Amino acid sequence: MAFRSSLVAACLVLFAAAAACQSGGRATASAPAIPERSSVQFPATWRFKAGDSAHFAEHAMIASNSRPASEAGIEIMRAGGNAVDAAVAVGFALAVTYPVAGNLGGGGYMVIRMSDGRSAALDYREMAPLAASRDMYLDDKGNLTDASVVGYRASGVPGAVAGMLEALRKYGTKSRAEVIAPALRMARDGFVVDSAFSGSLRGSRHLIARFSGRAVFYPNDSAPQPGSRFTQPALAATLQRISDQGAKGFYEGPTADSLVAELGRGGGLITAEDLKRYKAIWRTPINAAYRGYKLITMPPSSSGGTTIAESLNLLETFPPATWGTANYVHLLGSAYQRAFIDRNSKLGDPDFIKVPLAQLTSKDYARTLAKTIDPQRATPTPRDGSQIVDGMHTTHYSVVDDKGNAVATTTTINNGYGSGVYLTSVGFFMNDEMDDFAAAPGKPNMFGLVQGEQNAIAPGKRMLSAMSPTIVLDPQGKLLLVAGAAGGPRIITSTSQVILNVIQHNMTLADAMRAPKIHHQALPDELLVENGGLTPDVESALKAMGHTIRYVGGLANSNAVMRVKGGWHGVSEPRDGRVSGTAGY
Ligand code: DON
Repeated sequence: MAFRSSLVAACLVLFAAAAACQSGGRATASAPAIPERSSVQFPATWRFKAGDSAHFAEHAMIASNSRPASEAGIEIMRAGGNAVDAAVAVGFALAVTYPVAGNLGGGGYMVIRMSDGRSAALDYREMAPLAASRDMYLDDKGNLTDASVVGYRASGVPGAVAGMLEALRKYGTKSRAEVIAPALRMARDGFVVDSAFSGSLRGSRHLIARFSGRAVFYPNDSAPQPGSRFTQPALAATLQRISDQGAKGFYEGPTADSLVAELGRGGGLITAEDLKRYKAIWRTPINAAYRGYKLITMPPSSSGGTTIAESLNLLETFPPATWGTANYVHLLGSAYQRAFIDRNSKLGDPDFIKVPLAQLTSKDYARTLAKTIDPQRATPTPRDGSQIVDGMHTTHYSVVDDKGNAVATTTTINNGYGSGVYLTSVGFFMNDEMDDFAAAPGKPNMFGLVQGEQNAIAPGKRMLSAMSPTIVLDPQGKLLLVAGAAGGPRIITSTSQVILNVIQHNMTLADAMRAPKIHHQALPDELLVENGGLTPDVESALKAMGHTIRYVGGLANSNAVMRVKGGWHGVSEPRDGRVSGTAGY
């Protein structure tokens, strides 16, 4: 009990009774009840101050990692397009303006919630080429090589183009040519380089210059300068073929032939047949519930939604704890730890293995599993693993339109600039998604994830992902929040904390995104915390409970949109330090 009261004393959050003011917004007589947000105090050591403002817009909002890409989506909505039209426009535009993660050579997931109540989840994850085999990344001695991460053999069959066009076909209202037009324009005529774009290329030169992208991205031997105009004619030609011919313009004909030939010269495995048979798959979204709120999120082949649902179900079995206390961090970390044990051992491509989805996402299961959490002691994860590598890249974007349709999309080529292999004739980077398989079951991958047989490599199989595009409805069933992130396994924990910060801790979106985050993925058995994210009292209390704490620079990169009085708030990742990627009207 003495211990418990010391935890209360260590509480670092002050909830003021008076509500913090939401910026912007006109009052309408019929406005639905929107809870006033509370103010929060972050630890004095934390890099952000609470109380910052968000981008407000009355009708529609997009948050992504690139403002020109978000503006592409707004352009489509202003021309009468809905959130799906806009999301597809943003996806193609990100391939042009944000090549570190935006892509045609990767894959992703899209969760859609239409204002008429329909919801959908689209899986356009890459899949292993038909020539892939279980041990393809092991050397003669059975050790893992880096071929799943870098170079020509690291790529799965790209799903991005198939996915975006399928979403447009089923839920869009605009033509292919209309939604691709902004991306095509920016590839053909160029866009103005900012310091983030230039800096990102400078930082990844060691990877890109190893392969064929050198001439394109380092003309005159240096990255394009901020303020200069950057054109991508080969990418423009590929976008034109997709605009004219649809998926066939990518998966067959000149684009496909060039992709197969260029990859093949370096020993890549993707064939014309692999490309021709690629299909995006509609899945049944996971519907999770947390203290009266509803989450619509992504089922396998991503582990994101399942692991978020299981973690929140576990947390819900405990009385609500105050944000920032050792009690809260312990319960949340312990919930993540258990959900990741299940994730790492039981999840994989549902078209290849039996996934116990109903069980893992059930409240009953959470009640049983929660009994293994000691509220005052950390529990060791069986076995050990390695460290997580920082600085990867993926990109999430959140879109809402003026009708209240919403789209959450996360897409990736895995590492920043994927495998490093840039296909000069078609103008894009290829993914290194094969590393998301358990290339050696039981041994850690690039993210330190130790995964099992369920996620072993097999021809035509989709590698397990952590991407977690999620849409949250309030207890009245009204759209509240669209969220998701980049950051490998930390996508799951950061996305769920943005959600918890809004729905349980009543933070504004700006605070929810800025708040320091924690992460636990079972192995390595440690609680990751963002630098400066704990008060000294909370840190000592957690250590006393048996947690091994490791501080890291940043955990994930989120972009989210939230309903507020009279409109929407959009926030793009504050940790990025780059120009905000939001756009609205
Ligand atoms: O699908 C996944 O889970 C990973 N390929 C995502 C990689 C990632 O987020 C890297 N990011 N920052």
